[in-house]
Amino acid sequence: MTAQVRIFNSAAELFQGAAETICRVGLQAIRERGKYTIALSGGSTPRGLHQELVTSFRSQIPWDKVFFFWGDERHVPPDFPESNYRMARETLLSQLPISEDHVFRMRGEMADAEIAARAYEELLRDFFRPLPGEFPRLDFILLGMGSDGHTASLFPGTNALLEKERLAVANWVEQHSTFRLTLTYPVLNHALNVMFLIRDGNKADLVMRALKEPDAHLPCQGVQPVHGELMWYLDRAAGQRL
Ligand code: 6PG
Repeated sequence: MTAQVRIFNSAAELFQGAAETICRVGLQAIRERGKYTIALSGGSTPRGLHQELVTSFRSQIPWDKVFFFWGDERHVPPDFPESNYRMARETLLSQLPISEDHVFRMRGEMADAEIAARAYEELLRDFFRPLPGEFPRLDFILLGMGSDGHTASLFPGTNALLEKERLAVANWVEQHSTFRLTLTYPVLNHALNVMFLIRDGNKADLVMRALKEPDAHLPCQGVQPVHGELMWYLDRAAGQRL
């Protein structure tokens, strides 16, 4: 799997390029299958993309055909500042004509993270109806990369990196002394399109290692779509070592 790497001159152009791709993929999915399934990412980078989508692309995507999922979620209620769902609701979902029954968040408020993960697996199975032994195939999964090379909540040295069967798990992250809910590699790698969206120079070395050093053993390197497109969208600072 070779990644399509695009380096944009600025963060603004990065977000515009990502939004254009999300729109193009979505219109094709809706033409071909009548709907668009997209998993959002947490962190701070997606904020700029969300802003671009709600301003420049508001009328270009039939939002009533879009269904939202998440790549990961913190083990907190949906109104906590750390909640990935809250960030997406505030910066994207509340700004667009999207009905609640098209939004499928991970229930980080559940006391038992494992029960929350299994509930999300059931939700995914109900929605996508994968054949036995198959995995849900989302049209688009947006991902970031942390400063330790994690993506979604697949952190270095955590059990979720080894998961080959489950769709979503509760992953104990010692680095943060907390559980995180995360999609697993099988789901990420069965998506039709996966995009890493990365900006800022503080990740430039890691980006270079992730793309040029196969033995770097960074969790983000485990994202190798079986059939889908893999895209790394970078601003100039993040791509300066390539
Ligand atoms: C999360 C994200 C995580 C994020 C990276 C990059 O829950 O925090 O899913 O994987 O994408 O940590 O975060 P930034 O965009 O803030 O650099």
